[in-house]
Amino acid sequence: MTTATQILGTSLLERIGNTPLVRLDELTTGMPGIQILGKAEWANPGGSVKDRAASAIVADALRRGLIGPTQALLDATSGNTGIAYAMLGAALHFPVTLCMPSNVSPERKKYLAAYGANIVWTNPAEGSDGAIRMARKLAAEAPGAYFYADQYSNEQNWLSHYHTTANEIWAQTDHQVTHFVAGLGTSGTFMGTTRRLRELNPGIRCISMQPDSPFNGLEGLKHMATAIVPKIYDPTLADENIPMETERAYAMCLRLARRCGLLVGVSAGAAVATALQVAEREHAAGREAVIVTILCDSAEKYMSERFWTEAPDIL
Ligand SMILES: Cc1ncc(COP(=O)(O)O)c(C=O)c1O
Repeated sequence: MTTATQILGTSLLERIGNTPLVRLDELTTGMPGIQILGKAEWANPGGSVKDRAASAIVADALRRGLIGPTQALLDATSGNTGIAYAMLGAALHFPVTLCMPSNVSPERKKYLAAYGANIVWTNPAEGSDGAIRMARKLAAEAPGAYFYADQYSNEQNWLSHYHTTANEIWAQTDHQVTHFVAGLGTSGTFMGTTRRLRELNPGIRCISMQPDSPFNGLEGLKHMATAIVPKIYDPTLADENIPMETERAYAMCLRLARRCGLLVGVSAGAAVATALQVAEREHAAGREAVIVTILCDSAEKYMSERFWTEAPDIL
């Protein structure tokens, strides 16, 4: 029996986080004692890991009265954070203005239009840095019109992973995690998860990954040596940083699709390729390992990429 005071179902915000940890056993056959596990972040309601940071940033801004029905949230994003903000703006009734390179995938543009966000398109040749410069300009020109969320500097970004992602990994691996691997975009996922995991067990090795060149197809990730470095990024935190080639990420996306039945996004392919590199090294050294990585989103928003059909022999 239900009563009128019982709250049924879950709200949008309650559906963020607590994503499944997927076993990728196919990749480690022949490596006894080594496991690779991926956090299935596409299970978040906005379809990506960025729901975590965006919801923490929005909750903080709402608490401080900085956004509301007539006060817009402004930020620069290459896509997933924008989708998360747009979803939250629609659900919690505040306007959202996003600065974004005009070459983001057509699928992303459709999601943002569907949620009703305002988009300021920026020069694709300037990448995510061009979007950041535009957001800074808009915020400076009309300081009263916007709350500039600035995911690259906002402490709530990494704190969201400190409070959720890391504790979930710790519990879901029954405290067995030995390695954590994540790509660097704003760096929020890596910074927050690493800080908390190190508190839980200082022996966990935390490995960051970034594109091997400024010109790459790893959407959402930054080549730190040539990019505007996020304020929240601390390069001394990682035990190691592994550079990743776009072609290897594509190859891993295909391998996961065809051998595991998993359709993941390109940065997730890059993360798994990095985790496999770590697995092979641990195996060669005769060690056991439980390697956890982040599958930032599914392949849904990348289906127009040509590599899915053009490179069937790259496995
Ligand atoms: C697809 C994808 N992968 C990875 C990242 C990087 O995550 P973070 O910004 O927490 O470093 C992002 C960030 O936008 C992303 O959209």
